[in-house]
Parts: sequence; structure tokens; C-alpha cells
Amino acid sequence: MNQTLSNTSPDPGALVLGIESSCDETAAAVVAEGRRLLSSVVASQVKDHAPFGGVVPELASRRHLANAVPVVRAALAEAEVALADLTGLAVTQGPGLIGALLVGLNLAKGLAWSLNLPIVGVSHLEGHLAALGLGDAPPPFPHLALLVSGGHTSIFLVREPGRQEELGQTVDDAAGEAYDKVAKLYGLGYPGGIIIDRLAARGDPKAIRLPRPRLHDGTLDFSFAGLKTAVVNFREKHRGEPYRMEDLCAGFQEAVVEVLVKKTLAAAERHGVGHLAVTGGVASNRRLREQMTRAAAEAGLGLTLPPPELCTDNAAMIAAAGCHGLRAGRRLAPEADAVSRLPRGGALPT
Ligand code: KG4
Ligand code: ZN
Repeated sequence: MNQTLSNTSPDPGALVLGIESSCDETAAAVVAEGRRLLSSVVASQVKDHAPFGGVVPELASRRHLANAVPVVRAALAEAEVALADLTGLAVTQGPGLIGALLVGLNLAKGLAWSLNLPIVGVSHLEGHLAALGLGDAPPPFPHLALLVSGGHTSIFLVREPGRQEELGQTVDDAAGEAYDKVAKLYGLGYPGGIIIDRLAARGDPKAIRLPRPRLHDGTLDFSFAGLKTAVVNFREKHRGEPYRMEDLCAGFQEAVVEVLVKKTLAAAERHGVGHLAVTGGVASNRRLREQMTRAAAEAGLGLTLPPPELCTDNAAMIAAAGCHGLRAGRRLAPEADAVSRLPRGGALPT
């Protein structure tokens, strides 16, 4: 980000309004000092997309248009903050659905210009990492963060706020995407992650054994497309035979969780990092939290698991990441566009 719009406050990060609209949640939040959450409002579009079994981009953009202003108003009201009190703005610039991103980006730009406030564009991934600092026990630096969501599955070595290195990522589907696809295959509902999580809790994780993709490949990369295919094949092979859906969900979940936990532990060992953290929508998964807690304790490592509402998409994480960006002097250029995909490494273009 190379242009300064304005800088009216000595600390642009003192009171930041964050706006997030990259996928199917319209969110706004007010965060003080990058750390204190004053409000976080999320308008979910789950009901709008559920009949289609996934997010319909055009529909998402239209819902963001309708929701964005009311959500910003609600976030300000809940924080008991007036627009004039803000010291800076932060908005998700990418990655995500381009039409959806444009709604938040243009609203944030308009607010920044009309209020003469500094504004920063935040990567959605950077946001998920910053969410870790908003819980009761923020992780120390450096820490190793597993970012696991519907769009991403990556391990980051986070050296300090806003400075991270991607050590590995999925080569195909994200873990959350695999949950959603398996749920869709069986018509369980959308979004699939939480539904499979609940069914799995009543199943036997050892009853149906599915492959652990790339577990022993020596890299810190993931692959979940093959696991979804394994479920498709299992379904074909056992068509007409009785098996419990709960057992299949538990078996699928066990495969996902084992790979996520073991690769994260391997990354910590390889890079000599003593503290782990998990963030992103799938970080609210009960089995993942349980197994990560057990593995971290066994290895003598610290662990940060944010509360579920900070794991799934929200704007508090964008405001928190934005606070660091604003303080570091990053600014969104007036002509800056939304970015649908980020290159490997996860940085926004400068
Ligand atoms: O972070 P997020 O809200 O949006 C993205 O950035 O993608 O993550 C959404 C993803 C979806 O794939 C959803 O199925 C998954 O997170 N998810 C879960 C759980 N809750 C949400 N996956 C497994 N178990 C859960 N409890
Ligand atoms: Zn997300």
C-alpha cells in the first residue's frame, strides 16, 4: 500500500472500525488498541445459500449490499462509538469472492474519504491470524499458527503481528471445503463442518478407516481432495449396505484431524517453536480442539484456541490486523482493487 490518504490521529490504531465481506458473512466490528473488542456484528447469509448447498457468489454480493450499512451502524451502536470517534478503518481486500469483497471495500473507502480517516486493506488470512490476539490468552511471539477454514489450510510461523511466513498449505481443497463437500454428498446440510462435527461426536472414529493424505510425505503441505474422493468411493462401494452416518463422519473427521495435528506438531519441532495456535472456521471443531490440546500437552508446547466466534469469519479480526497495519504505516491506495486470490505466501500486493 503506497499512498497515504490522511492521518489525522497520532495513533491511527487507537479505535478501528473493521469491515469484512469476503464470502457469505457481512461483518463489522470496533476494536480499541488492536486488542480490546468493543463490538462484533456478523450478518450470516447461511440461510440464503443453504438451499443451493454452497455459496452463490452473485447472491452473496446482493446480500452484502443490503446488509453492509446496517451492520456497520449496529457495530458502532454496540460499541457506543460515533463515526467521529474512529481513528482508522480496516477492510478485507482479499482473498475472497470479488463481487462480495467490492461491497465492503467501497463502503470502507467511502467512509474513509468522507471522514478523512486513514484506511488499510487487510488480507483475510492476516485477519484470521490476528483473531488469535483477541481472546483471553493471546499467543506469545513467535508462534506457529494452523489456519484452517473453508478457503484455506496453511501453517504459518508468526514472528510478530503482521509478520509471518507460510510454511505449508493445501495443494488442493481446504479442510473446511472437504467437510462441506462430504456433507453435500450425503445431503446433510450446509455448511457441513458443524453438522459433521455434531454427528461425529456420536460415532466411532475407528469403525470406518479413511486415508490420511500426505501424512508421511515429509512436507508441511496438505491435500484434502483425495480424502473427499475416498468418501465418494466408500459410498459407492457400500451402497445398499447398512452403516451409521455418525461412524462415517467420525472416521472422516479423525482422518482430517490427525493430519492437521501431526503436521502442526512436525512444523513446531522442525522450526523450534514452543507455542501453537489454531484459527479459522474449522478451529471451532471439537475433535480438532481436543486432539490439539492433547498433542500440545504431550509435547510440552503452549496452545492458543480462540473462542469459536473468533474462529469463524468476523470483522474484529480485520480491525485487529488493521490496527497493526495502520500503526506500521500501511495505507490503502485510493485506486486499490479487491484481490480474489493471493499468491503462495499470502501477502497482498503492495
Ligand atoms: O473461517 P470461515 O468462517 O470462512 C472461511 O474463511 O472459509 O470458515 C468456514 C469453514 C466452513 O467450511 C465450515 O464448514 C467450517 O469452517 N467449519 C467447521 C466447523 N465450523 C465451521 N468445520 C469443522 N467443524 C466445525 N465445527
Ligand atoms: Zn475466513
